[in-house]
Amino acid sequence: MKKISTRLHAAHLLMALTLVLLCCMASAQINPYQYTINKMANGSKGAVSSAHPLASQVGLEVLKNGGNAFDAAIATQLALAVVYPGAGNIGGGGFLVAYTNKGKAISIDYREKAPGSASRDMYLDKDGNPLLNLSQNGHLASGVPGTVAGLFASHKYGKLGFAALIQPAIELAEKGFVITAAEARSLNGSKSAFEKYNTVRPAFVKEKAWKAGDTLVQKDLAATLSRIRDNGMKGFYEGETARLISAEMKRGGGKISLEDLKNYTAAERDPIIFDYKGHTVIGMPMPSSGGLLMQQMMKMIEDRDIASMGFHSPAAVQLMIEVERRAYADRAEFMGDKDFVKVPIQTLSSDAYLKERMKDFIPGKATPSDMVKPGKVNPESDETTHLSVADQYGNVVSVTTTLNGGYGSKTVVGGAGFLLNNEMDDFSVKPGVPNMFGAVGKEANAIAPGKRMLSSMTPTVVLKDKKPWLVVGTPGGTTIPTSVFQTLVNIIDFKQSSLDAVNNPKFHHQWLPDQVMVENDFPKSLQTSLEKMGYLFTNRGQIGRTEVIKLEWNGKKVKSIEAVADKRGDDHAAAY
Ligand code: DON
Repeated sequence: MKKISTRLHAAHLLMALTLVLLCCMASAQINPYQYTINKMANGSKGAVSSAHPLASQVGLEVLKNGGNAFDAAIATQLALAVVYPGAGNIGGGGFLVAYTNKGKAISIDYREKAPGSASRDMYLDKDGNPLLNLSQNGHLASGVPGTVAGLFASHKYGKLGFAALIQPAIELAEKGFVITAAEARSLNGSKSAFEKYNTVRPAFVKEKAWKAGDTLVQKDLAATLSRIRDNGMKGFYEGETARLISAEMKRGGGKISLEDLKNYTAAERDPIIFDYKGHTVIGMPMPSSGGLLMQQMMKMIEDRDIASMGFHSPAAVQLMIEVERRAYADRAEFMGDKDFVKVPIQTLSSDAYLKERMKDFIPGKATPSDMVKPGKVNPESDETTHLSVADQYGNVVSVTTTLNGGYGSKTVVGGAGFLLNNEMDDFSVKPGVPNMFGAVGKEANAIAPGKRMLSSMTPTVVLKDKKPWLVVGTPGGTTIPTSVFQTLVNIIDFKQSSLDAVNNPKFHHQWLPDQVMVENDFPKSLQTSLEKMGYLFTNRGQIGRTEVIKLEWNGKKVKSIEAVADKRGDDHAAAY
């Protein structure tokens, strides 16, 4: 007995030493008080592109220390939960799409679920009017968080122990890190919301305004992350953290119960896989609409020679607007959590259906949205953040994760230091009533206990010659699928560099409202040409923050890896 316990002690000591060594190696390279932003990085052994320099660096250090792309994706997400609190999270949910060096396509669903006591009309008053403030802010807006379950579900594909992957995040929370000008602006902008929707004053609120260079320390978050390190999933879904979440819900009138937390599971699902001009596109299935929308949009343009029309020519942009409009009309009608509702996926993705959908497309003339009803389908038998990662072994991981709006519900779990999502707003609170992204939905996306709300997140991997080639994704609510669509078409059809494909101005049509949303730098002359065809325009400031990783191969070996980070934020590309 004694011998066993001595051996155990020795094993623990060894584990602890390895952990300290790994962490020291990691922190030796990372200075949370001084860092710069890189928009492009090249290497051959590994790369991470994410919304924050410190998070990308944490992921890169994991790769350097023998971790694979899954390990790096986990560590990057955990670091984002600390350094990018507006969207990085442990109180939200996400999706992972990956392709392993064994040739396996994977998707993991860790989308939030409606609490067990949620009900279809919970955001309607007694006269049936929508109460969007409740689906968008505060305690009642939160679904049961999925992120921590998702991290553990993806860890089965990793190589390193979980403790080594979470330790950098714990240190960033415990010791603090210096915030950027963008983060300072964002925290200041949400101050009154933080004051309104919290029962315990969170670390994000201070008397004087935040400015670039201030240090953000999150002690309660560090303690929560340490409980996850020490107790695994139970460190979040049971015990002290679960108790703190449940107490917060009781104080603020939310619905997430201890039972909801204990019962939460992530799901590994069959990804959506389709061909586009000789490439294989791997995307996220329901409850994200992202993969199916991509398939619909790409298949509707595949038989047209968009390259010869020219990049940002009125003809090419009009074609893309019209396929976007048609796909989003189907989203509103048919898409939702297929564990709860029948989604006619076979039909919606079939060549015959998509050909039929394009029959009323008239080059040079806008099709009004009231003429584009959702397609005819016969019953069948049957503020978000993205990170892209690649390793030297040929594994690639694409993850989009979210709290929904910036800082989610704005509610921080008292004593636990993390923000809860406001993902319930992604349900259709009432047929035809737009959510915060202007998206409408119907029965397929109505609220039900335990159901997952429909998402637009589109983590994507593209294979060329059966090898991982592109790892892509972005935040942006309903603009996500159209941004990923345009990024891929820019690279595949218009032969643009990843950097140009990401940074070129984006446009977006989502059927309703019947207008084209464009970024500030969308060319004015192009807009005028399209207005003459009958399109209405609205300015959307910026669309998305896309991260692309591109791999080149030398036979069976990775030859080079290029990581690109969107110009639109603090996004940072790291490679070695
Ligand atoms: O799942 C979705 O589609 C949304 N909750 C994503 C929200 C988002 O991208 C916000 N970021 N800009």
